[in-house]
Amino acid sequence: MTSYTVTVEPLGREVECAEDQTILDACLRNGVWLPHSCTHGTCATCKAEVLDGDVDHGASSAFALMDFERDEGKVLPCCATPRSDVVIEADIDVDESVEVFPVEDYTGTVVELSDIAEQTRRLVVELDREIRFNAGQYLKFTVPAADGKPSVDRTWSIGSPPGERLRLEFHVRLVPGGRGTEDWVFGSLVVGDRVAVSGPYGRFVLHTGDDRHAVLVGGGTGTAPLKSMVLHALEAGAYGGPLTLYAGGRTRAWLYDVDVFRRLAKEHPDRFTYRPCLSEETEAEVAASGDDPSAYAYGTVTDVLAADHESLTGCAGYLCGPPAMVEAALRTMMGKRLFPRDIYREDFFNEADKAAGGVKSPLIKR
Ligand SMILES: Cc1cc2nc3c(=O)[nH]c(=O)nc-3n(C[C@H](O)[C@H](O)[C@H](O)COP(=O)(O)OP(=O)(O)OC[C@H]3O[C@@H](n4cnc5c(N)ncnc54)[C@H](O)[C@@H]3O)c2cc1C
Ligand code: FES
Repeated sequence: MTSYTVTVEPLGREVECAEDQTILDACLRNGVWLPHSCTHGTCATCKAEVLDGDVDHGASSAFALMDFERDEGKVLPCCATPRSDVVIEADIDVDESVEVFPVEDYTGTVVELSDIAEQTRRLVVELDREIRFNAGQYLKFTVPAADGKPSVDRTWSIGSPPGERLRLEFHVRLVPGGRGTEDWVFGSLVVGDRVAVSGPYGRFVLHTGDDRHAVLVGGGTGTAPLKSMVLHALEAGAYGGPLTLYAGGRTRAWLYDVDVFRRLAKEHPDRFTYRPCLSEETEAEVAASGDDPSAYAYGTVTDVLAADHESLTGCAGYLCGPPAMVEAALRTMMGKRLFPRDIYREDFFNEADKAAGGVKSPLIKR
């Protein structure tokens, strides 16, 4: 297999990259941090400049990397493979308080696969050896070829805390027609199956050097990386400031791990506040079912967030879930006087978003 040398400026670091390997993959496996988020050519977070050499742009979305940008020598390292020795210049934004763990391949065994909410499954995988990661990061799963369809990679955020290095939990939402979800996690996958994963990936991490009030907002399975952050902060004492979690679901049937978060809020009353938000169920309906209506907030996560705070100045925002929700929460936070630099986001882009161009935010540099 032919390989080429990729030089990353301004670091001056060199890595070997096989001709069928993405530049991002080669860098992350060799401990060279490049900014990235989706790792499938949709979000444009990784955009860099080719200073010298030739690349194949691979599966880069035409929206994330437009034709004129390709002509100007821009590249998405998460999709691009080298066709010669290459020099790239990347916008490297390293937070010194966040440890960088190289990406590696692992094999795991599915030890739990259970329905935890409407169209939502908990997938627990026991790895063959320990992995180190930051709270908030994700793994890439190889969805095996089946029914004449080729193997594909899919990304799911780790819901368990970094202290648990062998047994990792994931929360997966069913996407109708989806290769990874309908066909696999909600289809053929069973307990005992062996799975191939790689990681850790992503820059959506709990900034443990911080002690600001962390306002965490998750829609649906967007709660997964936030659960990892909350557990890491509270049980390992990894974060100095208070945390508030807004977890959104249409009705109570769409929320999960409510008891876990309620227990944490009870055990850490000065550190952790839990706000489960119901967008399609009213206070009267909750009361009529015999449940305590005061245990929930009513409206979308952004409605509740907006009503709860006069100002978010001095806080740090962590937003995760469907791209439209993340964008709405971002705008709400900015309206409450939080700057984009104080807001971290993870958009759960899928193949449909990639084909449609995702959600373009004029408000924040990806
Ligand atoms: C960083 C990151 C972390 C994530 N973490 C999580 C998580 O913790 N939990 C979670 O549930 N999800 C998460 N996601 C989303 C996840 O990666 C998958 O996108 C999601 O699970 C759907 O995968 P799928 O293979 O089932 O669907 P896909 O195969 O991606 O299909 C999605 C939809 O698009 C349609 N489609 C497929 N191809 C095209 C096309 N070319 N044009 C138009 N439409 C098309 C399909 O029919 C389907 O309706 C995350 C995403 C990212 C980027
Ligand atoms: S990480 Fe490269 S486009 Fe998203």
